[in-house]
Amino acid sequence: MIKIGLLGCGNVGHIIARYAEDIRIVAALDRIPERAQELAALCHARPYTNFDAFMREDFDIAVEAASVGAVRLYGEAILRAGKDLVVLSVGALADEEFQERLVETARRANRRIRVPSGAIIGLDNLKIGRISPLRTLLLRTTKPPESLGISSAERKEVFKGMAHDCIKQYPKNINVAVALGLAAGKDADVELLADPDVDRNIHEIFAEGEFGDIYIRVRNVPSPDNPATSYMAALSILTLLKNLENPLVVGT
Ligand SMILES: NC(=O)c1ccc[n+]([C@@H]2O[C@H](COP(=O)([O-])OP(=O)(O)OC[C@H]3O[C@@H](n4cnc5c(N)ncnc54)[C@H](O)[C@@H]3O)[C@@H](O)[C@H]2O)c1
Repeated sequence: MIKIGLLGCGNVGHIIARYAEDIRIVAALDRIPERAQELAALCHARPYTNFDAFMREDFDIAVEAASVGAVRLYGEAILRAGKDLVVLSVGALADEEFQERLVETARRANRRIRVPSGAIIGLDNLKIGRISPLRTLLLRTTKPPESLGISSAERKEVFKGMAHDCIKQYPKNINVAVALGLAAGKDADVELLADPDVDRNIHEIFAEGEFGDIYIRVRNVPSPDNPATSYMAALSILTLLKNLENPLVVGT
């Protein structure tokens, strides 16, 4: 059974703890002690607020469901300690210098950094963009204003530009744009809209290249405890972990 250390005991962390089958969560870290304790009690793990103590636990993979800041703070140390890393706050990798450092650390330690599909679909075959470059890669994300931490009585565009700039302004909301770019090898264009009339987090992906064109629309149910996060994102981590040791590998 895979043993994991969970970094981040918020909304996604709770879903992982509640539905973890064939996975043992041995340690749970959060900077808020009550959150670590509550989640640890849910899944018979040990709670931590101190990173060094967390790392002394015996687990194979650290699963980050915390923040872009947490990836920057702890990512390299996790890999250097010989543990694989699952990164949900993939926006951290928009900083190319940091990304290169993290990947180099993984290479030297012979470890893997895994990015789950998160709140979208299609990262698998967008990797064709690394063989036959895409001409277009656009993410149009529409969320209820409260998901973006604003109030607005009407539909409005809050950002238009490149993913690596958008993630600086919306680090909790646009991780998927960075994931798209990592898969396709091209920084995605982003249009971010706030719409008081939608009750889902909607991601529309437009891609075009020599192969033809793609349009994907994902309409995610926001998690009740954190409307910025989609339930699908938590499920995608569980899927990744469940399939790590499956000899039949589909859709990579
Ligand atoms: N890639 C995707 O598609 C995708 C989808 C959804 C969420 N996310 C990202 O996943 C992360 C988790 O989402 P969530 O909804 O569970 O968030 P959340 O705010 O509900 O929970 C995050 C938890 O991590 C803790 N935390 C944050 N930084 C920390 C640090 N440096 N050290 C220790 N603890 C820390 C917080 O105290 C909190 O309890 C967020 O960064 C979110 O943006 C990515």
